Amino acid sequence: MLKQSITVLVKDIIKDYINEGSVCVDLTAGNGNDTLFMAERSGDLGRVYAFDIQKQAINNTKKLLDKHKLENRVTLIFDGHEKLDKYVEENIDIAMANFGYLPSGNKEIITKSRTSLSAVKSTVSKLSERGVLSLVLYTGHMGSQEERDTIMDYISKIDEKKFTVMNITYPNRTASPPEIVFVYKKSCNRG
Ligand SMILES: C[S@@+](CC[C@H](N)C(=O)[O-])C[C@H]1O[C@@H](n2cnc3c(N)ncnc32)[C@H](O)[C@@H]1O
Repeated sequence: MLKQSITVLVKDIIKDYINEGSVCVDLTAGNGNDTLFMAERSGDLGRVYAFDIQKQAINNTKKLLDKHKLENRVTLIFDGHEKLDKYVEENIDIAMANFGYLPSGNKEIITKSRTSLSAVKSTVSKLSERGVLSLVLYTGHMGSQEERDTIMDYISKIDEKKFTVMNITYPNRTASPPEIVFVYKKSCNRG
């Protein structure tokens, strides 16, 4: 587990929470890897909403889904994740956000603290009982430290009676370590 990249580790942990029929959201579709992962696991009865503000990212995600013949399980949304409430009416079982820029794309188009925070807040408020939101946060590029601090400030104040929040990072890494955050909504009955 400890040898895995941070994005693989997230999937390894979150996979057990995705069931046939789960409603999933990819807040940052990018090259479609997380969208594909959720579409595979949530099955024919599931639905994945995938947001991105770059046409290139939407196209890359569509291409990947087509290759795996799973495009029918996904609603691709060429718009900002801060508009989540406009597009997603259901409660959300699983949501993933991998912030920053599109790998192999324009590194100046990045997620921003204000819109990222808005998307995280909307997602948390729509999480189903036993639903999970995962966040991958970076600190190595322009604006990313502010984005990370803004989100962590909000996340650290979420009601602990209703949510379990967990944070994984590399405390001994000196060069801009990434971080994972999980937000799990407890069930009224059994936690
Ligand atoms: C690190 S990439 C995501 C990688 C992706 N999850 C994957 O599996 O390949 C970050 C993406 O966030 C997108 N992005 C930036 N601002 C956004 C916003 N307001 N709403 C939705 N996506 C945004 C970028 O265009 C970029 O494609």
